[in-house]
Amino acid sequence: MCGIVGYIGHRKASDVIINGLKRLEYRGYDSAGIGLLNGELNVTKCKGKVVELEKRIINSDDTSTVGIGHTRWATHGEPNDVNAHPHWDGDQNFALVHNGIIENYDALKKELTTKGHIFLGQTDTEVLAHLIQEIQKVAKCDFVTAVQMALKQVDGTFGIAIVNKNEADSIIVARKGSPLLLGIGDDEIFIASDASPIIEYTNKVVYLDDDEMAIINRDGYQVKTISNIELSKEVHELEMSVEQIEKAGYPHFMLKEIHEQKETIADCMRGRLVVSENRIVLGGISEVLDRLVNARRLIIAACGTSWHAGLVGEYLFESLAKMPVEVEYASEFRYRDPLINSDDVMLVISQSGETADTLAAVREAKSKGALVLGICNVVGSTIARETDAGIYTHAGPEIGVASTKAFTAQVTVLSMMAILLGQRRGKLNDKYASELIQEMSRIPDKVEQILKQTEAMDEISRLFTYAPNFLYLGRSYNFPVALEGALKLKEISYIHAEGYPAAEMKHGPIALIDEHMPVVVVAVTDHTNEKMISNIEEVRARKGRIIAITNEENSDVQRLAEFAITIPSTLDPLSPLLTVIPLQILSYQIAVYRKCNVDQPRNLAKSVTVE
Ligand code: G6P
Repeated sequence: MCGIVGYIGHRKASDVIINGLKRLEYRGYDSAGIGLLNGELNVTKCKGKVVELEKRIINSDDTSTVGIGHTRWATHGEPNDVNAHPHWDGDQNFALVHNGIIENYDALKKELTTKGHIFLGQTDTEVLAHLIQEIQKVAKCDFVTAVQMALKQVDGTFGIAIVNKNEADSIIVARKGSPLLLGIGDDEIFIASDASPIIEYTNKVVYLDDDEMAIINRDGYQVKTISNIELSKEVHELEMSVEQIEKAGYPHFMLKEIHEQKETIADCMRGRLVVSENRIVLGGISEVLDRLVNARRLIIAACGTSWHAGLVGEYLFESLAKMPVEVEYASEFRYRDPLINSDDVMLVISQSGETADTLAAVREAKSKGALVLGICNVVGSTIARETDAGIYTHAGPEIGVASTKAFTAQVTVLSMMAILLGQRRGKLNDKYASELIQEMSRIPDKVEQILKQTEAMDEISRLFTYAPNFLYLGRSYNFPVALEGALKLKEISYIHAEGYPAAEMKHGPIALIDEHMPVVVVAVTDHTNEKMISNIEEVRARKGRIIAITNEENSDVQRLAEFAITIPSTLDPLSPLLTVIPLQILSYQIAVYRKCNVDQPRNLAKSVTVE
């Protein structure tokens, strides 16, 4: 949600920044801007994608080697040229880019207006720029002190970068709630919201924590708290590679990421699933495993697709480990004074590890004494660092806004956790545990078999390209998959889609079914098969168009469906790892036929760092 890039060094800053903004575009893409220091401070910004900004500066002869850039996901103020970042102070001495929300911006703006400040746009960010200017004028202090004083007056979240023409060759950055890291090169320093813009230059990074700032110049960087206490920060080594963040010949990142799932699921299990010993080893939680095993209940909190993975987790933990589970929308959790204490364990799930609501749930649960565990994809992300312990999904960078490989990796981790807990709690007999562990090791090959059907699914996708609505039905483990399938479709194709537990259809959605309604049923031969078949008959009786995701042995469903996508059979608890894949492919293909921007759907952002 908004991407920030900055550079100071010996390269042409505009090249590094534009390139970096393109890598961060999945975080927001309604407008973009750049501020370059070269004696003067030049700001260029415009509505639209980074490529629009690039067109404006491509022929400039600017040779600046210091600058900041931004790609925006609008919160306050519509996406237009004026509201694009960077924002000037009133005297046009400095320019500021910001990720996050200044919640008290309205009160600050009114106060500053009475002091003569004139605002050009509607953003909260412009208010922060003017606040810094006003403080420096009144306090007659140096610029860094003015920034510190201003940041103490604002409520909300920020990741900011500032360049000031009176402070040549330096950049000030600060964070509270919105991620920022420094990339440390040879005689050059990079700034970014995440590692993707800097990985081609350096693998050494310093993560800023909340309430920290850095003053960066040609001699190096100094990190301190916003209260001016100097800090010594650890330099981490990134394991990411440039290849991982490129499309590798695929037309879209989403398709690439769908096709990576054979490997990502295998990577996620590597070293953890010990088939020969009928054992699961989860090193990241080994030190807290006893507390988890003996917990009164598990509360899972997440947002979006990660929340759907959490729902699969509920079925897994309750069935395999007989552990009581509640699944919460992270955004709701802390607003109702949740009953949680040190007998409970909270498990948060987040691909990015930066989702603001999920992070807030972590802090709420920790403050009430619960053990907090995380399942994250991005190594070193805020949630990964703030949780007591956790398990990385190791799916590699996910760039497509619609999450695919992160979901299957999350479900893989949850499956392993549930089996391990089932064994440790004495609720899973050895034979079944062994069957599950062996079957998990076969999942990557089964995923590959499904991916081979991509072309065969094309006909279905073409046929339903212009359907205005879709209904998705599933039961048990595949109810969350139905929700996820509907979410994928609406996210990237803008078709209205609803996911429902199949039986619940009779309590409303059945009224929508007629000969025009595609109904996607996720119906494998599990313990709900008979009931699912009845639901299919109910849809057929109303002439709904049934697209079934079913398994090889399920001849009844294959016979009843107008279209059947057949996947390999597996054990019931593991079926979401397979059933979700045709749904990802279906939504991808439909979105492509509808000429939608698959990787950057309108209004969405990959990482939602505001509440
Ligand atoms: C956004 C993304 C979704 C993602 C959700 C939660 O809405 O577009 O793909 O599932 O945030 O993100 P997280 O990084 O916490 O998993």
